Amino acid sequence: MPAVIIDGKAAAAKVRAEAAQKAAQLKAKGVIPCLAVVLVGDDPASVSYVTAKEKALEEAGMRSRDIRLSGDTGESALLDIIAALNADRAVHGILVQLPLPSPLDEDRVIGAVSAAKDVDGLLPLSAGNLALDLPGFIPCTPHGILVLLREMNIPTNGAHAVIVGRSKLVGRPLANLLTRRAVNATVTVCHTGTRDMAFHTRQADILIAAAGSPHLITADMVKEGAAVIDVGVNRVEKRLRGDVDFDAVAAKASYITPVPGGVGPMTIAMLLCNVVQAAEHAKAKSHG
Ligand code: GUN
Repeated sequence: MPAVIIDGKAAAAKVRAEAAQKAAQLKAKGVIPCLAVVLVGDDPASVSYVTAKEKALEEAGMRSRDIRLSGDTGESALLDIIAALNADRAVHGILVQLPLPSPLDEDRVIGAVSAAKDVDGLLPLSAGNLALDLPGFIPCTPHGILVLLREMNIPTNGAHAVIVGRSKLVGRPLANLLTRRAVNATVTVCHTGTRDMAFHTRQADILIAAAGSPHLITADMVKEGAAVIDVGVNRVEKRLRGDVDFDAVAAKASYITPVPGGVGPMTIAMLLCNVVQAAEHAKAKSHG
């Protein structure tokens, strides 16, 4: 039987509606959740992601503060802008779109965002909280993947999840998320140093491809009946391609996410949730 194609847009619409409802409740109490979106340079993929994020915020009744800077912006100027956003009580979340153009130091720039506004969950504090199973911001793409698995009733308890990729945005936080007690998967993380990757991927009940390498995952690397989540967004000859050889793998898997229309919409939906969460916390704090 061919795989069920997971409809990320439909799952994301549900999450977005929930976020919009919470935003409306906050609005009734005088708080409009607001995300500052900082884009340095004009990388076309980043421009399109940022535009999609801002549109989704608006549709959910939230605000965005659009800060677009030229590609040659200096690090100290950027750090000054982030400091001003940290201090601005009307701004609840700050998202610095990655990758930053060189020679900007991504870790230093991200590290300057206040922990209370780290809706990307990229600060060492947020990553540490996630690793220790403590409350905090969860990076949007890993969180979106977890919600998709739940939505499709794909069991994680005791399942072997194999993640291909160890990025700070996806692979690393996802490994921590999936090993939480409430999720309870056994996790293997493969990366460029992995010997015989296919040996590992073939063990996966849930295979998550987040390597950024078009069609890296071929059908021979997938166990019959596995759930396959494709996080790859690769532009090949002006077309978007995932990390998974979709047609061949779909014939073997039980579930599969398409690219586009799978994980991508969930990332944006979870961002809305994190902005609401940041605004709720800010409100609770301001009232003692
Ligand atoms: N670039 C690609 N995905 C993301 C994301 O989730 N957050 C940020 N800040 N940059 C990205």
